Amino acid sequence: MIKLSDIERKSLIDIASEARRRAYAPYSNYQVGAALRTSSGRIYTGVNIENAAYPASICAERVALFKAVSDGETSFEVMAVVTSNGGTPCGSCRQVLSEFGLDTLVLIVDGDGKLVKEATVEELLPGAFRPDDLQ
Ligand code: THU
Repeated sequence: MIKLSDIERKSLIDIASEARRRAYAPYSNYQVGAALRTSSGRIYTGVNIENAAYPASICAERVALFKAVSDGETSFEVMAVVTSNGGTPCGSCRQVLSEFGLDTLVLIVDGDGKLVKEATVEELLPGAFRPDDLQ
């Protein structure tokens, strides 16, 4: 697992907070921003994108991760997730993160930029169903 400096932590949180302003959440009015740092040092942002057909909506975490994977990045160090109240990633996002590694660190942050919780994917989703389970 990576060791983050305070400056790195703050920088990723700031990027996720900035991205959150671009959330498209006219139905829930619950804006989420995410910033994902890959092992190669790139940072991918994501926001939740809702739809009038509600189930077609997607979470910020998965947008960031899918953008990264579609660019060929599959190794992740840390993701910051910012919401108004420091809400935690949903089960589907935990599952999608677990596909690519259990050691990825997740920073859960509130609307004031305060770190509410820091946990690995393994801690957020113990016993995840993983690629190995298909062998
Ligand atoms: N949402 C996220 O973007 N990430 C989460 O982990 C939890 C929920 C979004 C989905 C929906 O657009 C809104 O927040 C309310 O559920």
